[in-house]
Amino acid sequence: MKTIKLITILGLALLFGCSNAKPVNADATEDKSQLDRKWWKEDVIYQIYPRSFKDSNGDGIGDLRGIIQELDYIKSLGIDMVWLNPIYSSPNFDNGYDISDYRNIMTDFGTMADFDAMVKGMHDRGIKFVMDVVVNHSSDEHEWFKQSRSSRDNPYRDYYHWWPAEKGKPPHRFSFFDEKADAWEYDEKTNAYYLHYFGDKQPDLNWENPKVRQEIYDMMKFWAEKGVDGFRLDAFQYVSKDITWPTYEEGYEKDIMKVVGYYGMGPHLHQYLQEMHDQVFSKYNVFSVSEGVGTTLEHAHSLVDPERKELNMAYHFEGVDIAKYKGWDFLYFKNNFTKWAESFEHKGWIAIFLANHDSARMVSRFGNDSPAFRAPSSKMLNTFLLSMKGTPYTYYGDELGMTSMHFDSIDQFRDIAAINAYKFAKASGRDMDDFMKELNFMSRDKGRTPMQWDDSKNANFTTGTPWLPVNPNHVKINVEAENADKDSCLNYFRKMVQLRKDNLILVYGDYDLLLPEDKQIFAYTRTLGDDRWLVLLNFSTTEAVAALPNEFSPGDIKINNYDTVSVDGSTVTLKPYQAVIFALK
Ligand code: GLC
Ligand code: CA
Repeated sequence: MKTIKLITILGLALLFGCSNAKPVNADATEDKSQLDRKWWKEDVIYQIYPRSFKDSNGDGIGDLRGIIQELDYIKSLGIDMVWLNPIYSSPNFDNGYDISDYRNIMTDFGTMADFDAMVKGMHDRGIKFVMDVVVNHSSDEHEWFKQSRSSRDNPYRDYYHWWPAEKGKPPHRFSFFDEKADAWEYDEKTNAYYLHYFGDKQPDLNWENPKVRQEIYDMMKFWAEKGVDGFRLDAFQYVSKDITWPTYEEGYEKDIMKVVGYYGMGPHLHQYLQEMHDQVFSKYNVFSVSEGVGTTLEHAHSLVDPERKELNMAYHFEGVDIAKYKGWDFLYFKNNFTKWAESFEHKGWIAIFLANHDSARMVSRFGNDSPAFRAPSSKMLNTFLLSMKGTPYTYYGDELGMTSMHFDSIDQFRDIAAINAYKFAKASGRDMDDFMKELNFMSRDKGRTPMQWDDSKNANFTTGTPWLPVNPNHVKINVEAENADKDSCLNYFRKMVQLRKDNLILVYGDYDLLLPEDKQIFAYTRTLGDDRWLVLLNFSTTEAVAALPNEFSPGDIKINNYDTVSVDGSTVTLKPYQAVIFALK
């Protein structure tokens, strides 16, 4: 039986195209000129799902004016850069990942004047802004596609991939979001099939066509001119296709890595990225990251090795995809993050994240959202994100320890990926109780419930009816309550962001794994010059003893998510989900 992947098949690879490091309040003792400093390595990114952050006009949908209202809150987090999911005109088949006009703002979100005011408000506060660029596909309601489908000899015909039906059925292609998992859609008007790796309302653009590429670069320049500081390229590893359309073996799509292997990192991907670098990234002080890095470390390196002049940062999915609803392998988690950190230790750069708009909540997947452990495990996970080597991405609400809300029935889901996966699972005869459990553990709607501002109705996200339910636990977990509590997840997050910003060792220090076989503790050091810091993270619900090598002598405590920690020589005993960073003596 086939299964359909519910989450992030689609890596995010980040590209921040700038070269001048900006000053930071750092106080490292080593020779800083030895470090390959870049501002986008030192920044902390905060991702906002605009639909769910703050509604300013009572229609139940978050908007740009809402974000403007909350800029001081965003600033108070200490973060440097905001990435917003797509805000362009869109019929919202896939919540903005289906764009019908690349040079306009979605009516639900506001106007171009609101956009300008928002970016100005960020810049006035020293916050940079990253735009999501969705160009593997457009909406079928984009003018280009309307033209393209109208006749075979329309000038826009070659903006998309078409297969004339007189040639028979095209070679099978898997679709991530299609109800039948079929990426070819028959279009009667011209008796041909068009390709859509995602939903049928998201036709894939034909990047082989130089006109398409020029349209995209020009569009990116339009936004760069407006002051955008970075670009996140959505599903970009798929833009270059093998248009000889080879047939692959039966059933390969059951293995998502095969899908990425066959469809990702196509023959001209590097050429396109170099063109984009030449025309866009090199001309502006912008950062850029693209989603997906192929299937090997070599692929990932080939996207971000600086001398290739393509992307700045690799955004891989292996880490975030590890948490599975039937349990997950902690040793594999440690090994995987270590593999990436070590591989990029001296060349290239990676992104670090444990959640985004394509996954359920971080604390519900990697931590423990029961009342006893939610706060310590959320703080522990944020300690991890902000002390690993790579640029950290925090998904809105994870600073509060927001949890995945339970949905009882498929009717509560809004995401096309979940709804179509449900239909597909049903048609394939899957055990639907089990499927609903899986959906509850990992589906994207779980990570998209509205931001919890206070304990009032709808958490003060909206005065109307929210587009997706507000988690009832907002009465306890919310910004107002956490602001007032010095021990809250929120205040811990702020402290941890500041620790990273004040100490280059957490950005550039060498990473070394300790206690690789330990089944409860993730332990590593970061070393810069003569300084060495020890990070100890208990990923379990029980006490854990870290018996460190004798030469380790924990000194100053840099941060601790509990009031105390028990140290006896080089043995440290950690409480459930305790996180501590020590300077080593
Ligand atoms: C990316 C986005 C995801 C979107 C898909 C299609 O994976 O992260 O949210 O649905 O691309 O654009
Ligand atoms: Ca609104």
